[in-house]
Amino acid sequence: MSTTAPALAFDLRPSATPVAPERRAELLAEPGFGRIFTDHMVTMRYAEGRGWYEAVLQPYGPISLDPSTSALHYGQEIFEGLKAYRQPDGGIGLFRPEQNARRFARSAARLAMPAVPEELFLESIRVLVEHDRDWVPSKAEDSLYLRPFMFATDPYLGVRPSLEYLYCLIASPAGAYFPRGVQPVSVWLSTEYTRAAPGGTGEAKCAGNYAASLIAQAQAAERGCDQVVWLDAVEHRWVEEMGGMNLYFVYGGDTLVTPELTGTLLPGITRDTILTLAADLGYKTEVRRISTDEWREAATSGAMTEAFACGTAAVVTPVGTVQGADGQFTVADGEPGEVTMKLRQALLDIQHGHARDTHGWLHRIG
Ligand SMILES: Cc1ncc(COP(=O)(O)O)c(C=O)c1O
Repeated sequence: MSTTAPALAFDLRPSATPVAPERRAELLAEPGFGRIFTDHMVTMRYAEGRGWYEAVLQPYGPISLDPSTSALHYGQEIFEGLKAYRQPDGGIGLFRPEQNARRFARSAARLAMPAVPEELFLESIRVLVEHDRDWVPSKAEDSLYLRPFMFATDPYLGVRPSLEYLYCLIASPAGAYFPRGVQPVSVWLSTEYTRAAPGGTGEAKCAGNYAASLIAQAQAAERGCDQVVWLDAVEHRWVEEMGGMNLYFVYGGDTLVTPELTGTLLPGITRDTILTLAADLGYKTEVRRISTDEWREAATSGAMTEAFACGTAAVVTPVGTVQGADGQFTVADGEPGEVTMKLRQALLDIQHGHARDTHGWLHRIG
């Protein structure tokens, strides 16, 4: 982690009743995703004219809110997602956390919210992970998922940027996404609903984007698909991303193509990492638009040899069958491809400390 001192000191009020070690071990045996939380959380308040204040590490627990709290009415809320990984020597590593800090600041700017200074964001993570270090799982591919978020707390029903905000950081142990081996997902090309339009909030990680996506995800499930693939809002033709993950396409077994960042996609940190990792492994990379017609034709002709999605939660996930309004097709034989699995392993090895971190991506905590 950075050595620059944050401007605000954290008041440490650890829990007097942390979960007993035996119970914690039981919970960590099968953590699943997003249901179990650690002993502590970090909160920090902001007020216009005062800046950030009252940074506290305290027991995890409910937050009391006035019913008129602005975020509950107008959705001025942003969040991040990153993971802490147990290292072979027992220490803990965070993967490119400064990138989450910067994306959080960009999301804040788009939602007319104050930025959390990068040092303060990183310090909040360090303080929580240090206190809840025993909650970082040791099992291969398990991790501690960290969820920083911030929302408007003005008790006011007028529509304007709030003058007060609450930043909060919670942590949740996460099991391997594919406990029984990597399985390709099937996807639904959504032409009826759009995730983001030019000038909208697509590149911000704000709550409203996810609320608006739920109906399309439900539609995908009705069609028997695991995930929805978002297309551009104007022509419903250009592939953007898949659920909460970015997409990659492999051509001829050696060239990776990923949709360009047009302002309507979330700039994934895993997407960015894979561009570098792929080059390290000797693959060619292209960042450009790709249409659903190209996807279908290239998959059918065999020019496209693999497709996969990537993101913090599931790392790298192969995409098998693709269904849309005008039929369905499968990428290659529908099985996880060689390039997909190579990149997946290369990324996991760096995150879990099994490979040399030549790009300085891993930030050690203890
Ligand atoms: C909509 C969306 N796209 C892509 C991603 C992947 O981003 P990252 O690799 O930073 O986890 C996420 C997850 O944060 C997401 O919610």
